[in-house]
Amino acid sequence: MGYISLLRPHLNLRSTISEGSGDELPQSSTDLLEAISERPSAVSFGPIGEILQGSPPSTGLRDVRGWRHLVGEVVGREQELGSLREFVAGSRAGAHAFVLEGEAGIGKTTLWLAGLDAARDRSMRVLSARPAVAESGLAHVGLGDLFEGVLEEMLPAMPAPRRSALEVALLLAEAGARPPDARAVGVAVLTGLRILAESEPLLIAVDDVQWLDASSAAALEFALRRMLLEPALLLLARRSGEAGPVPENALPVERVTRRAVGPLSVGATHRLLLRRLGRTFTRPTLLRLHEVADGNPFFALELARARDRAGTSPAPGDPFTDWSGPRCPSARSPR
Ligand SMILES: Nc1ncnc2c1ncn2[C@@H]1O[C@H](COP(=O)(O)OP(=O)(O)OP(=O)(O)O)[C@@H](O)[C@H]1O
Ligand SMILES: [Mg+2]
Repeated sequence: MGYISLLRPHLNLRSTISEGSGDELPQSSTDLLEAISERPSAVSFGPIGEILQGSPPSTGLRDVRGWRHLVGEVVGREQELGSLREFVAGSRAGAHAFVLEGEAGIGKTTLWLAGLDAARDRSMRVLSARPAVAESGLAHVGLGDLFEGVLEEMLPAMPAPRRSALEVALLLAEAGARPPDARAVGVAVLTGLRILAESEPLLIAVDDVQWLDASSAAALEFALRRMLLEPALLLLARRSGEAGPVPENALPVERVTRRAVGPLSVGATHRLLLRRLGRTFTRPTLLRLHEVADGNPFFALELARARDRAGTSPAPGDPFTDWSGPRCPSARSPR
């Protein structure tokens, strides 16, 4: 079995971070690594867990609701970045969506964040949410995140019944005898988005949309179906192969752009390792690393760190033994 087949299941380790600590669970591979390095005792590992215990990234950290996320320079991805910039620059009537899809660690969040930056550069108003798997069963969490920071402006401009429906949904007001139903919340979200879109074009951005809670997704879909003229864009990132809401399906298919995020090139992987680890590798080692990681930047970084940790005298049977040779049979993934 190749390293990647061994590593993949461990990307779901986020659920093993201690839930009793009161902290939010990590949102991405980067966050996961930071969590692990900050609180290794809270994590239970499988046989190759050591690979995931790399040091936290050292540059460009930004706080995202308690979990720092790296917003460093994006290497490679020229086409994807070009498409994202084109998407946010396009002046179109009605809601349109751009969906980034790919496997764990492939770089979806990195591109998603670049999309947010591009939208802010164009003076768009960005509403963003990064749902966590642990909260995907809780009502209206995503809406709370999307509308954080704009409620003061939005709520007073809403008609009373819609305002009250949203306030109850977001736990800002007591529920009356009859709590608002899905339609009432959907109408309130539509009204709120229309109010916001009047002053600035909107980017509604959801990372890890597969974990968006069902009630938030339903309200968002209700609104999107009706946003035929408003300047609103939807930017989603989704881990492929995972079940969950598909809010872009509320839009006509011609208004949805899907972009599969594939492997990084060898050159981009080289630049990534140089920038993040501050060192270069010999060409054969780099090629082997790229091959073993299947071009996945998260795996490449972790494998390179593990290679560094193994040093020059790895233990017998260590899977990181000698990558500099022409072929490392154990590194071959089953294909
Ligand atoms: N193009 C890139 N340039 C620089 N760093 C990158 C790039 N792509 C990915 N990375 C780095 O690789 C790691 C994984 O990337 P990212 O978190 O974006 O993946 P993801 O697809 O969102 O993963 P997950 O499915 O776990 O959320 C991060 O450390 C990120 O900074
Ligand atoms: Mg991500």
